[in-house]
Amino acid sequence: MFANKLAASLLALAAAAVASPTAFIPVAPKEDIVFSPHITGPTAGQLWPVGTNQTVTWDTSSIPAEGQNQTGLLLLGYQENDSENLDISHPLAVGFPISAGEVNITVPNVTMRTDYIVVLFGDSGNVSPQFTIAF
Ligand SMILES: *[C@@H]1O[C@H](CO)[C@@H](O)[C@H](O)[C@H]1NC(C)=O
Ligand SMILES: *[C@@H]1O[C@H](CO)[C@@H](O)[C@H](O)[C@H]1NC(C)=O
Ligand SMILES: *[C@@H]1O[C@H](CO)[C@@H](O)[C@H](O)[C@H]1NC(C)=O
Ligand SMILES: *[C@@H]1O[C@H](CO)[C@@H](O)[C@H](O)[C@H]1NC(C)=O
Ligand SMILES: *[C@@H]1O[C@H](CO)[C@@H](O)[C@H](O)[C@H]1NC(C)=O
Repeated sequence: MFANKLAASLLALAAAAVASPTAFIPVAPKEDIVFSPHITGPTAGQLWPVGTNQTVTWDTSSIPAEGQNQTGLLLLGYQENDSENLDISHPLAVGFPISAGEVNITVPNVTMRTDYIVVLFGDSGNVSPQFTIAF
């Protein structure tokens, strides 16, 4: 899947970023556990007004026991030119437990679009349906 390739490059990026004192990207976990928690919210076509707090949710039933302590990285992107255009520099959330099944975020002041996505990274990535951010 496309997101898996992205996950690989992101983990490489995260590893590279560790050297930088200002970087705030979680270090890749030691064990190689691969699972893809299905994102259940935002749902397709949902509206996120800028500046509001929203909850991103995912299905935790596929998380193996070895992955229970893993932390996640949540990125905002949008579909254009067959790319996810993920904003790696401004993660929506980092370091939250994947096992929680949800994380609260504040919607950033970004350009209005109807094709935003969020991608949840553990060891592999999973993409939400497209939704809207507007004022
Ligand atoms: C969003 O959540 C943050 C952190 O919990 C809180 O400080 C803020 O007041 C909330 N904002 C809104 C609009 O509810
Ligand atoms: C997860 O964390 C708990 C509490 O720190 C610990 O007891 C448990 O062994 C850890 N599980 C794994 C698989 O690392
Ligand atoms: C998508 O492709 C068009 C045409 O090449 C280009 O103008 C646009 O900047 C690209 N969008 C992104 C997000 O790279
Ligand atoms: C997210 O916010 C909702 C509503 O304020 C709250 O009920 C929930 O406990 C929060 N979840 C987390 C993981 O902080
Ligand atoms: C978002 O940014 C634009 C341009 O920088 C600004 O005009 C607008 O007031 C901001 N909106 C919010 C809700 O912060």
